[in-house]
Parts: sequence; C-alpha cells; structure tokens
Amino acid sequence: MEIDKTESRIPLHKLEKQILGVLREKDGLNFADIGAKAQIKVDQVRRAIEWLKTKGLVDEQRINESIIELLEAGKSASRNGLPERRLLNFLRERGGKAELTEISSKVLSSDETSAAIGISRTSKWIEVRKENGHAFVHLKGEPLATPEEELISTLSSPRRLATLTNKERMAYSSLAKRPGFILEVASKEVKIKLSKEGQSILIEEGSGINVTAPPPIIYSGRKHPLQIFMDEVKEIFVSLGFEEIVGPLVQSAFWNFDALFTPQDHPAREIQDTFYLRDSTIASPASPDLLDTVASVHQNGGATGSRGWGYKWNKDLTSRVVMRTHTTAVTVKYLADKTPEEARVFSVGRVFRNEKVTFKNLVEFHQIEGITVGSRVTLRDIMGLLSKFYERLGLKRVKFWPSFFPYTEPSLQSMVYNEKLSKWVELCGMGIFRPEVTRPLGVKNPVLAWGGGLERLVMLRYGLDDVRYLYENDLEWLRSVPLCP
Ligand code: PHE
Repeated sequence: MEIDKTESRIPLHKLEKQILGVLREKDGLNFADIGAKAQIKVDQVRRAIEWLKTKGLVDEQRINESIIELLEAGKSASRNGLPERRLLNFLRERGGKAELTEISSKVLSSDETSAAIGISRTSKWIEVRKENGHAFVHLKGEPLATPEEELISTLSSPRRLATLTNKERMAYSSLAKRPGFILEVASKEVKIKLSKEGQSILIEEGSGINVTAPPPIIYSGRKHPLQIFMDEVKEIFVSLGFEEIVGPLVQSAFWNFDALFTPQDHPAREIQDTFYLRDSTIASPASPDLLDTVASVHQNGGATGSRGWGYKWNKDLTSRVVMRTHTTAVTVKYLADKTPEEARVFSVGRVFRNEKVTFKNLVEFHQIEGITVGSRVTLRDIMGLLSKFYERLGLKRVKFWPSFFPYTEPSLQSMVYNEKLSKWVELCGMGIFRPEVTRPLGVKNPVLAWGGGLERLVMLRYGLDDVRYLYENDLEWLRSVPLCP
C-alpha cells in the first residue's frame, strides 16, 4: 500500500514557527541569541527546540569553546587602569618624575610596581635613573590605550575566545602571562541548525511558513466498519417501521431448535455444528404446558394438522445449553412471550457455529433477523421488504429462490448480484413460520420471518473477498474506510 506523502507534513506550534523564522534568517544560533531575536524567553526557546528536534527539523551542535573572563586583578584594572597606566599617570601628575620608593609605597603594590616598571621600561615609556643614591623614575612618553587595555574594556562580561580579533588575541596572551588578570574556561556551546527537513519546509520567498503545505492527516477515534454498518442496518429497519428486540447469546436447545420445529436428529444440532456448554443444563427452558405441546407437535403434529416428525421426542435434549446458532432463537422467544397479532420487529446480534473458519465462514458472526406478523401478510411482503432493504444498501439486483428450513413453509433464499465478483451471492433465508412453530406458542396470524449473515453484506459494501479481514484489525484499512462510501 502506498504511504500517503502528506503524512510527513508536520504540525507546528507558534513558538516553533517563530524559531524557524529566526533560523531562516541566521542559522546556527544559540538559545540566547534565538530568544533575543524571536523575543521569547530562553526557557521557551529550549522547550520549542526540543519539539523541533523530535520532529527532525533542527539539529543541535555541541561545540567545545573557550570563554575568557576577568579575574580580580583584571577587574580592578578595568576600574582603575593597569598598573603601568597608573604608574604613568602618577608620573605625569608629578611633573614627569618620582622616586621609586614613593611609587611602591603610595601608588602600587610591590608586585604591581615591578610589573609596571618592567613593562614601561621595555616599552620605553620610562627611564630609571640613580640620583644621589636614590632611584628616580622619569616619564618619557605615554601611549594611547594599549591593546591590553582595549581588551580589558571589552570584558565587562565574559567573551568567547573565538570572537577575539588578532590584535585582541595577542593582548590576551600577554595578559594571560600576568597572574590574576584573566581566566580561560572551557565551555560547551550549543548551536541550533536547521536540518535538511527544516530547510525544506521553509519556503524560499516570504518570511513565513509554507502555508500551502497540505495539513497532516489526523486519525481520530472512530467506529469499526462493522459497527457502522450495523448501525446503518438498524436505522433502515427502524425507518421501515420495525422495532429492535434483543436476546441472550446463550440459549437452551429448546429455544434454539425445538421451538423452531427442528427435529432432534437434525444435523445442525450435532456437536460439530453447534457449541454446547459443557456440563450445563437449563432445568425448565419453558413452561411444562409448552414443553408438552411442543413434544406432541414433534411426535405427531399435535393439534396443528401436521403429522410431526414421527419420532419419540426427548425432553432432556431441550435442557442442553448452546451458544445460539441463529438469532431466530430470539425471534421465537419473542413470539412466545408476546403472542402478537401484529408486529414488526428485528434483531441484530452475534451467533456461533462450530464450523471451519474459511474466507467465507467464521465461528462467530452476526445475523440480522426480523418478522412481520399480521392477518393479511403474504410471502410477497417479505420479498418486497427485503428488496427495499437491499436497495437502501445500494444492492439493486436481487432475486429469490426456493429453499428449505425446518421452521418455514414456503421457504426462500435471497440472492444479490455482486458486481465485483460477477456472481450471485446468497444472503437471507426467509419464509412463513410453519403452524408447527406458531400454534404451540399461541400465535394465530401468519408470521413472515427472515434472517441472514451481516458480514456478507459488509463484505459487499467494502469489496472484501475474505470475511476474516473484518476481524484482523488492520489499522491501515480501518483508517482508510470512508465514512460515507
Ligand atoms: N435462521 C436462518 C439461518 O440462520 C435464517 C432464517 C430466519 C430463515 C428466519 C427463515 C426464517 O440461516
């Protein structure tokens, strides 16, 4: 499956956009510089850089750097001047000449004095001469600001060594030789650079972000396609005047089979077709009266006019507990409970069959099922109803075919043409409930009944050719299923 290109589009926070805007003007800035340019707090810069990093839009470069800063003597020099400058100033105030002992006692400390004298002599700013056994210092010339003085004046806050000019570098190395003036500290500088990706999302012109870039696809939570379809099916039946009924997944064999006139030796009842709950029984699945009536209907037709199945009905088999094999168990229980003269009800639910799982069979699946009860209903009515239902689902080519179920007479099967597979697909079973089913329950009017698998319809809707796919939770597919096909 092709990966959607727009998936790489990255949503950006306002702060991130601001920072990208700054980096586009000047790449490779540190946090403080970015903060200053974007006018946001360094803390916020830091946070937004983290986001940008995880999105792969910027890279962090850690550079080992030397920072230079003033030590005590350096700080005092920046306030009062270097010792040599103070020496020269003093000499000038004294008319160009002073005794050495006076200098070292009044103006400078003895360390400062020897340094100041040494430097000033080699620079030829002074001369030291002996007069009457006393050493006198004579001023010969005063320099304008020296490189050392200039450097010190720029060091009110620490500077990166790398930013020093050549001249400053020389001043730095001479100052570094003098103890207590200057300190070099190793520091790690972090610089933020746009990554390739970062560069590419900034457009060439204009000052902003590429506003024409497609937005990211947001996968919000949504219902499973099967659930969406189930809701749609319910909607259709409700709109056709039906009411929903529900019943338990676990049933007695009585309601799943016997009440539906399914003979006790019917293959569907075999263990390989039906899931029985081990060691469970339901003591009285129905009233003793109903059990007796159903017994006689199975054996000889009872009062229904039928001849029944002609076997000895075994009451014990009715108490066995099964996972319902069809929703018809819900339908027939509804008829027994309500004995309606008229009704339109439907149910949608899970059913279980002990079958081999294949591309078209599951052991657990869903059925839709319904009945119409009324004095004047005919087989044509269900055909019309189901045609309508399929039409609402967009299935236009429908045909009906004779079929067989133990509980309906006549019985039909509906088929729908699958355009994609170019073949007819069986969908619902239907028919009119036999008197053997309705009479014992006390239902007098004809009951039109129909029911069938839901997954088959879902497969037609989404063009699937394997029913197992519906339960695979393939996220790619789940996300791509259109909400309005
Ligand atoms: N119960 C049948 C099945 O599971 C369908 C059906 C329902 C047939 C109602 C007739 C009447 O296939």
